[in-house]
Amino acid sequence: MAPLSSYQIAIDGPAASGKSTVAKLLAQRLGGHYLSTGDLYRALAWKALSLGLDPETQPDQVVEMLPNTSLAYQLQEGNPVLLLDGKPVNLPDLHAPRVAAVVSHVAKIPALREWLLQVQRDCRHLGIVILEGRDIGTVIFPQAKFKFFVTATPLERARRRLAQKGEVPQGATLESVAADIARRDELDSTRKTAPLRPAEDALLIQTDGMSPDQVADKLADLVRQGS
Ligand code: DC
Repeated sequence: MAPLSSYQIAIDGPAASGKSTVAKLLAQRLGGHYLSTGDLYRALAWKALSLGLDPETQPDQVVEMLPNTSLAYQLQEGNPVLLLDGKPVNLPDLHAPRVAAVVSHVAKIPALREWLLQVQRDCRHLGIVILEGRDIGTVIFPQAKFKFFVTATPLERARRRLAQKGEVPQGATLESVAADIARRDELDSTRKTAPLRPAEDALLIQTDGMSPDQVADKLADLVRQGS
């Protein structure tokens, strides 16, 4: 049978689980496109800030900007590029602290999540897509060919976070970072809209003690066996 040229792989999981690194490596191994759905929320947060809005106190105004907003991943020279209002986004801007500080408020707005549903589903036209997020297997692509829920214990995730310079406050310890991560897990998994949880048919990938390459190899093997 000829290999499929279009399918979706969902990679969900909690913060600092290493899922974006693994999703990128998996895309390379499968010849597919890695797409960060967090960047979609970040792009809308960035636009709201550019318009002088505070997403925490002005969620309704953030929703009002949506009819005048276009957002899509498009292939340019074979690579996906995120276009906001027709222009490529500047990824470092989306990952700047001022965007990081408000993006979770943006991600809480039900009407905005609803608006992003179609933006994300349209990504299937790009071919083999590996989408990384929180609700890809549960909400966005419940029919995805493969659903992985990549996770690690709070202590292991704290170790990884500490190894990434600049992502933790000064004076943070392994224990304080692990406690923060456990607290965020609790918030993310109990929020009303699209809580973080594995889809019933997702494969749980526990990554403690594994390198990103080892995890990506394991996922690629599972995909090849299941194709
Ligand atoms: O993965 P990230 O840190 O770039 O995500 C940015 C924010 O968007 C974070 O608050 C979680 C949220 N998010 C979400 O709610 N659903 C997704 N599918 C992806 C991200």
